[in-house]
Amino acid sequence: MPIVSVINYKGGVGKTTIVANLAAELAWRENSVLLIDLDPQASLTFSFLTVDSWRQNYAGTTTIRNWYDAFIDQDQDIELSNLIITPDEVNRYMKGETKGEIDLICSHLSLINVDLELATMLAGASLRQSRNNFLKVHSRLLDGLNAVGVEDRYDYVLIDCPPNFNIVTKTAIVASSRILIPAIPDYLSTLGIEQLQRHIAELTNDFNEYAQQAEIAPSIIGVIPTMVQVYGGEPINAQRPYIDSIRRTGTPVFDTFIRRNNTLFGDSPQYGIPVVIQGVSGPTQTTIQTELENLTTEFVQRL
Ligand SMILES: Nc1ncnc2c1ncn2[C@@H]1O[C@H](COP(=O)(O)OP(=O)(O)O)[C@@H](O)[C@H]1O
Ligand SMILES: [Mg+2]
Repeated sequence: MPIVSVINYKGGVGKTTIVANLAAELAWRENSVLLIDLDPQASLTFSFLTVDSWRQNYAGTTTIRNWYDAFIDQDQDIELSNLIITPDEVNRYMKGETKGEIDLICSHLSLINVDLELATMLAGASLRQSRNNFLKVHSRLLDGLNAVGVEDRYDYVLIDCPPNFNIVTKTAIVASSRILIPAIPDYLSTLGIEQLQRHIAELTNDFNEYAQQAEIAPSIIGVIPTMVQVYGGEPINAQRPYIDSIRRTGTPVFDTFIRRNNTLFGDSPQYGIPVVIQGVSGPTQTTIQTELENLTTEFVQRL
C-alpha cells in the first residue's frame, strides 16, 4: 500500500487539486483512500468540507493539529485513527456506484505554529539525546500511520504537503514510500524541483544514518505538468521547454498533463465533489475528466 506525499515548494501549482481528483478517481475505481491535509491553508480539507461544517464539528478536536499538539504537550497522546473522518458529501455521492471510500484527516489554519514547537523538541543535551529526538520527531507520522494499521485499512494514502520543507513536511516525507510533484511548466514552478529532490535525499540520508539502518527510501514517482496551456492538443511553445528541461535532469515526467481551465477548477472545490467524478456537462469537461482519468491510470502504473 503506497503512502504518497504530494509536494512542490511553490504554492498554487495545483497540488491540492491533483490530490482531491486522484483520490476521487481511485475511490471511484473501488479503492479505499486516506487523505491527510498537512497544509495550514487547509485547501484539501475545504475541498471536501464546508468551512461551517469544519468549524462546528472538527476544528476544535479533530484535526492533525490536535495530534501534533498532543505530542508536543506530552500530557496525553491521541491515536491518529481518532482524527480520521469520512466526509459526507463526496462519499454520499459515490455510494451505490462504488465500494470505494475517501477518508480524511483535516488540517487546521494554526498548524503553522506547530513547526516552531516541533523544532524546539529537536534540541538535546547530548549527541545521543539529539539523535533520539531527531528520530522521535521525524518518525511521528510514520509511527502514527503504522499504529492506525493503514496497511490493512487503505489501498492508498495521499498526503497534501505545504509548500515548504519544515518539520511537518519532513514527517510526511519520512512516512512516505513515494513522492509526487505537480508543477506548472514555467520558470518559478520548475526552479525548485532539483532542490526539492536534493532535500529529500539529504533527509533520507540523515534519517537512515541516525536510525543506523536504511529504514526509509522515499522515491520520486514523477512530475505532473499542471495548468498546461494547450494548442492543437499539445502544450504551447512557451511551456514545452520547461517540461523538456525537467526530463533532461533525469526526473521522470508524466506523459499525461492537466490543462488549465479556470472555470472548471476554480468553482469545483466549493461543491465538495472533485471535477473528475462530477456529472458531464459538455465537451470541455469531458476532455478534462479524461485527462484526470488518464493521470490516475498513469499514477497507478508508475507506482
Ligand atoms: N488545471 C487547472 N486550471 C485552472 N485552475 C486550476 C487548475 N488546477 C488548479 N487550479 C486552481 O488554482 C488554484 C491553486 O490550485 P491548488 O490545487 O490549490 O494549488 P496548490 O495546492 O499547489 O497551492 C485553485 O484555485 C485551483 O482551483
Ligand atoms: Mg494546496
